Amino acid sequence: MLRLATVDDAKAIYEIEKTMFDDNIYHKLSLKNIEVLLKKKSVYLYVYCNEINTPIGYSLGVVINKKSIWFNSLAVLKEFQTTNAAKLLFDQIESTCYHFNLNSVILEIRKDNKALLRRYKNLGYVIWKEIERYYPDQCGAYRMIKCLK
Ligand SMILES: CC(C)(COP(=O)(O)OP(=O)(O)OC[C@H]1O[C@@H](n2cnc3c(N)ncnc32)[C@H](O)[C@@H]1OP(=O)(O)O)[C@@H](O)C(=O)NCCC(=O)NCCS
Repeated sequence: MLRLATVDDAKAIYEIEKTMFDDNIYHKLSLKNIEVLLKKKSVYLYVYCNEINTPIGYSLGVVINKKSIWFNSLAVLKEFQTTNAAKLLFDQIESTCYHFNLNSVILEIRKDNKALLRRYKNLGYVIWKEIERYYPDQCGAYRMIKCLK
């Protein structure tokens, strides 16, 4: 089941974050970061839950101005990967963009992640900017954008 997260989900989201992101290559969200995000009106944090309503994956979008949503993060616990969870969580970010009549989704990917670059190009995203030394290991990022209007 996919739903919007509440403050009660903060710890479960943090567990997913801790388990799924390698902090040598990604900036991880702290529990405090997640709790703060969950209180912001501009934040759309979705969770995909198991049968007892515990989050096993999440996606995070932030409405950054009147035109765009910034897709910040997506993670699904290993044992629930290759199910439909990641797709539903990601699609929900684009749906949020449509729902609020925004123009575009913006995201960053690591320059060394060629498979993800291909995936986003296939989904209609284009490289908008290059940002040097964006990640903890100093890898650069492609900032990509998809206009939905
Ligand atoms: C990224 C992650 C959520 C993918 O989960 P998964 O269940 O293995 O996903 P799959 O590879 O089976 O892909 C299923 C669908 O989910 C979507 N999807 C998967 N990864 C995606 C991503 N990074 N961005 C957008 N959509 C994605 C796609 O629609 C995909 O379908 P497709 O392969 O036909 O294009 C998971 O590997 C993970 O949690 N990794 C650790 C955290 C991380 O690196 N996140 C990405 C950087 S923010």
